[in-house]
Amino acid sequence: MNADDDLAGLAKLLTTTRLARTHEHHVELASTNDRALAWLASASTSGGPPDGALITADAQTAGRGRLGRAWSSPAGRDLYASVILRCGKPPSGLGALSLAVGVGLREGLLRGLAGVEGLPALGLKWPNDLLLGERKLAGILCESRWRGGEVDVVVGFGVNVHRRLDEFEPELRERATSLALHLDDDRRPGRAALLAAILHELERWLERFFVGGFAAIRSRYEPHSVLLGREVWVDRPSPSGTERIAAIATGLDHDGALRVRSREGASFRVESADVWLAEG
Ligand code: BTN
Repeated sequence: MNADDDLAGLAKLLTTTRLARTHEHHVELASTNDRALAWLASASTSGGPPDGALITADAQTAGRGRLGRAWSSPAGRDLYASVILRCGKPPSGLGALSLAVGVGLREGLLRGLAGVEGLPALGLKWPNDLLLGERKLAGILCESRWRGGEVDVVVGFGVNVHRRLDEFEPELRERATSLALHLDDDRRPGRAALLAAILHELERWLERFFVGGFAAIRSRYEPHSVLLGREVWVDRPSPSGTERIAAIATGLDHDGALRVRSREGASFRVESADVWLAEG
């Protein structure tokens, strides 16, 4: 394995002070988020993981996405990582955390890909996706656990790095992408080099977010949002299950919630829902 692809050798590439100073790497796990949550569950007896601890795996057998979906995770192809944040007293505006992680992930990928030309734009699709051009390159899954008045957060992310088209499930081939689909082997950074760059930027943007909330990261989120100003479908919970609404994404509220206007002219906030671009 190429040295900058070997996640077990991440330590020598790290430039962070808070994140990943403790790193557990596994050849295979069910899910790095599940391992992080189990480690946190041990906090009452053993103290649990240190703040910033990182868990990575070369493969996941039960990788999870948002809304109970599966995240396919073939061995050695992509990045599967979870960072544990022991926040203590809950920072205000925590609901926008996945937007801050999106900014950190995007900036980190740009850092890891510095000097690489000819890639489509990296866009942020509210609330937890990162797109390369119009296709999904990465996803974020943040999960929190409360102990008394304190909160611990697991920030999980998956980035498609080396996966070829035939390694995606057939139903994902139209919607997903990877760096390998745009960059030959000699132009593509290894997984460890990419992860070190991501962690560097994630640390910076999380620090800003925990001090200033969504307002502190807004200027790096909004210009790269692929939804704003576009027609979307919003699937939101309703008494009869889910209702699908055609709307225009008009903006983001002070706390990161999405504002949309339906075709009938009603304006409302979306806090947690599935949102799809209507065209394309
Ligand atoms: C989504 O797009 O719905 C979120 C996908 C998050 C996937 C990552 S891979 C590492 C971590 N462990 C998991 O089981 N899920 C996240």
